[in-house]
Parts: sequence; C-alpha cells; structure tokens
Amino acid sequence: MCGIVGYIGNKKATPVLIDGLLCLEYRGYDSAGIATIENDSIKVMKDKGRVNNLYNLEGINDLEGTVGIAHTRWATHGKPSKENSHPHMDNSNTFAVVHNGIIENYSELREFLSKNGYNFLSQTDTEVIPNLIHYYYTNGPVSILENINERFLGAVKSAVNDLKGSYAIEAISPICPNEIIVVRKDSPLVIGKGKSENFIASDIPAILTHTKDFYLLDDNEFAVVSKNKVRFFDNSLIEHNKAIKNIEWDANAAGKDGYEDYMLKEINEQPTAIRETIGSRFKLGEKCSFHDIDITKEYLSSVNRIFFVACGTAWHAGLVGKALMENLCKIPTEVDIASEFRYRNPIIDEHTLCIYISQSGETADTIAALKLAKSHGAKTLAISNVIGSSITREADYSIYTHAGPEIAVASTKAYTSQVALVAILAMYFAEILGTSSESEIEKLKSDLIDLPSKIEQILANTDEIKNFAKKIYTEKDMFFLGRGTDYNVALEGSLKLKEISYIHSEAYAAGELKHGPIALIENGVTVIGIITNPDLVEKSISNIQEVITRGAKTLIITNQIIPNGHFDYVLTIPETNPLISPILSVIPMQLLSYYISKFKGLDVDKPRNLAKSVTVE
Ligand code: M6R
Repeated sequence: MCGIVGYIGNKKATPVLIDGLLCLEYRGYDSAGIATIENDSIKVMKDKGRVNNLYNLEGINDLEGTVGIAHTRWATHGKPSKENSHPHMDNSNTFAVVHNGIIENYSELREFLSKNGYNFLSQTDTEVIPNLIHYYYTNGPVSILENINERFLGAVKSAVNDLKGSYAIEAISPICPNEIIVVRKDSPLVIGKGKSENFIASDIPAILTHTKDFYLLDDNEFAVVSKNKVRFFDNSLIEHNKAIKNIEWDANAAGKDGYEDYMLKEINEQPTAIRETIGSRFKLGEKCSFHDIDITKEYLSSVNRIFFVACGTAWHAGLVGKALMENLCKIPTEVDIASEFRYRNPIIDEHTLCIYISQSGETADTIAALKLAKSHGAKTLAISNVIGSSITREADYSIYTHAGPEIAVASTKAYTSQVALVAILAMYFAEILGTSSESEIEKLKSDLIDLPSKIEQILANTDEIKNFAKKIYTEKDMFFLGRGTDYNVALEGSLKLKEISYIHSEAYAAGELKHGPIALIENGVTVIGIITNPDLVEKSISNIQEVITRGAKTLIITNQIIPNGHFDYVLTIPETNPLISPILSVIPMQLLSYYISKFKGLDVDKPRNLAKSVTVE
C-alpha cells in the first residue's frame, strides 16, 4: 500500500526521497511524488506511474531543498492520476502533506471546508488534510495562535482531531522550514536517527541504508522532526521522551543479492529463515523456551479455546496452527480471517487465547481484530516478522519469526517461518501442560531441525518444476486438492498461483470435491494433488482418481510411495511429520507459481492490484 519517506538534513533531499521510495516499491503503488522546501515556497513534483518516472519530470534535478516529503500512492479515493497523487497542498500553497491510510469522514470534512471557501483539485480523501491545517492555522484557538513556534504543530493537531479513520501523515511548510511534522494512527511510521539529519518512512527498509536507529511512532503520537532533534508529543501536545530502537536488519538483506527477483531470493532463503526461527528456542533433549514471553502453567490451564486470526498467507499458517495446537495441546482451536472475526461477534473471554499472525505486523484488519479480543478480556499473542511493528506493540505477548525482510508481495519465507514458529509454540504449550508424550515432542523437534536441509534438497532440484510450469503456463484454471494439512497448504499453493500468475485457481479439501466442484473438471484441466499424510494416502488417491477419470491432467506432490502410472507427473519431496509437512510441500508450489509467472512475462515481485502491507480495511 502507500509508502511514505521524509528527509531533513544537509543533503539535497530529492535523491534521498526517491531512493527511499524505490525501496518501498514492493508495497504496491500506482503513482509517486515528492515535495521539497525551496527558498520560501514548496515545490511539488508528482505523477502517476513508476517512481523512476519522477526523474523525467522537468525541473526535478534543480531542486536544492534539504527538507522534503515523498509518497507512493495506492489508489483508494480517485483513480491513479497526477492530480490524485501525493503530496497535496492547501489552497494557499502553504502546507504540503502526504498521507497513508483512509479518512473515513472526508466527505463531511470536504463539505465543511467548501462552505469555508476551500476548493479541491483532486478526488482524494487526503486533500482535506492540508486544507484543514490551513484552516486551523488561520482560525485556530487563540492559545495555539499565541505561540508562533507551536502554531504549525497546533494546526496539525487540530486538523488530525477532526479525522476519522487511519493515517500516517507528514506535513511541511515554508512557515517552519526546518521541521517536518508527523503523526500516525493505525498506519505505520518510523523515524530514523542520523547525524545532523533525520529520516522518516512508513517502513524500515526504506531508510535502512542510512541508519539502524529508529523511533517507532505510536498511535496518536506527534513528532516534530528537525535535522538535529526529534521532539515527541502526545495527543494533548504534552512533550515526552522516547527510546530509540536498534534494528539489526542488514541493509543488504533487503537487496536482491544476485537473484533475478526478490521472490526467488526469498524462496531460496527459507532454509536460513527456518534455522533462524528455531534459533535457540529448543534443542534436542531440552524443553522449548520462549525468553520473550512469560506464559504460566496456571494461565495456560485456564485457556479453553485458542483462536488464530490473520489474513491471506498468514491465515493459511494459522490453519496449520490449528492442527498443531489441537494435536499437541488438546485445546479446541479456531482459525479466523481477521476481516471476518472483527465483525462477527466471536465468543471471547478471559479463557480465550487469541494468536495473531502477521508478517508485516501492520495489517489493518489483523490489528483491529486484536484490539477487539483485548476489549473482551482475552490475552493476545502476536507472531510477526517485524520487530516493533504495530501488532506487537498492541499484543500482550509477542514472538518473532526471524525470516529477515520479506520484500516480494507474494509471501514465501514468512509462511514457512510462521508454520515453524507455531509448531515450536505448540510444543512449548504442550510441554507446560503435559498434553503430549515426551517422545512425540522429541520426534517433532528432530523433524523440525531436519527441515532446512530437506528444503535445500528440494531447492537443489527445480528443473522438474520448471519444466512442468512450461507445459501449463498458458492455462486458465487450475485446482489444488489435499486432505488435512495437505488441504491447508493447497490453499496457500492456490493463492500463490493466483496472485503472481493471474491464473484462476481453487483449492478444495479433496473429499469435498464431489459435492460440487467436480462439475468444473473437464478434459485437460490441471489438478495438483498434495499427499503427505500416510494415513490419508488411499483416500487422497481415490479423490484424484475421480478427476483423472474426468480427463484432468495431474501433478502429485508427495512424500509417500504411490502407485505408478496413474498420474501425469509425480514430484517426490522428503518425508516429515504431517503436522509440519506444509513447510516442505509448499516449496514446489511456490516455485511453480514463480516459473509460471516468469514464463508469462509478468512482474513477479509486484503483481497487479496487490500491496505488500495492507494497512487499510
Ligand atoms: O503482513 P501480513 O502477514 O499481515 O499480510 C497478510 C496478507 O496480506 C499476505 O499474507 C498476503 O496474502 C500475501 N500477498 C500472500 O502472498
């Protein structure tokens, strides 16, 4: 979704801003723009299209300003166009603003401003913000107006008080040429601390080459950023101090490292991501430990239901989590899509543990679903890949996958790390509760430890998958079938294919096929079957036999011995515990989608209409 960058220091701001926007391209966008303070006025350069197009705008190289704000827009209100691109200015060209999020009451605010003589040049919700700032700057409460230095901040605060919805905002004005004012609510914003310069971004990777020291802005918190200082204020404009967080991510880890695409790089990083996620959380012969959370036996014994709540791929990780929690901990577990959970009045109380999975930790629906559970007295546990992300700051407990930055829109290493981490969490709970035998847990630990080398085996032999992709990349429809955790991973395989190859696909529980979807199977349709659970081999084969009879072309991903001659293609992967087999069986499906997308000549890392971090509802 939209991305924000800001710079204030001694360098020319434009290159820093554009470089930052390029690092945020992965979030998904359709237009880009910057604004800098040039002498006594604001210069805005913006257009629809790619960030690199900004370099073609006349006069952009002449910008000398050392203070600037920048934005990539993912259209919500109004189509992608120059007028709708950010930054937006007020009618008097005194204030420039970039904004991520959605202003839900913008029509009301537009009407109010129109009645007060303001005009609008765009269809965006954002354009009300600079005009509101102007309105309050000129009509604000006397107490604010009295102190000229605080007047800009006071006007931003008054404007923000009128907003309903979510926002991360940067504002500049030649009236206060040495500061950028920022504020956020339900949309991420970080400030990077440099030497005689400071940086602002919606996402850490955008400014990671400049600094590793970050202030993570909280909801309803304001910051006045100047080149030597950052001042923080609460919603009543009372100033406070804020601690710096050192982020250990390596800037190179956010680069492509010689790979053609981020997605391919991230697929190949999975063995490392799993090793890092296991880290020191367990060793063979020793109990699991989570130093970062303090969950007691007394509390766990009181939990009578677990919810996994998430979106997209993270939701698919939650589905595997259900099997793990129910099998190892014997606690009834439900899995919800966050956008459904938050509006369906789920039955939650202090005996419910709600686990939220989010790679970015910034997904609007997941955060809202977490706040809902807290308000019902449930304990909340966040699983995220981003230290200090919004979800981890809201949750009672937070644990991290250590997958490193995931840039490609299609999630790969985050998924496998999430499943691994949930497996460790389930073992940890089971050890506290005594709900599984030591030998069962010890075997699962050893299976988990073996996973990275088994992933390496799959990654060392990708020709078969590539060849299969070449045969089917022109198809229009595909089906993914499985039972149990094979069904869970079929959903992930199908999502991956849809989002980066634009091929329509469906995943079904194999036994459900004959209750309707089988009507869609006809000559030549591709069906991908996943069979990794020894107890379900025969039943799964029977289901796939049913589609073969109706003319389907089949690819089977399996770690079992299955009869020869039935299927068109069989891809054998290493064997492991069915509870964690999605970590292995998903790899060929990730690669299949990747190669299909490449054969189709599509942009693998930035699929159409999608954003990496979905920070609006
Ligand atoms: O950052 P999150 O894990 O909360 O993101 C959730 C989904 O938006 C994400 O998994 C999405 O489905 C991916 N594009 C899937 O590849």
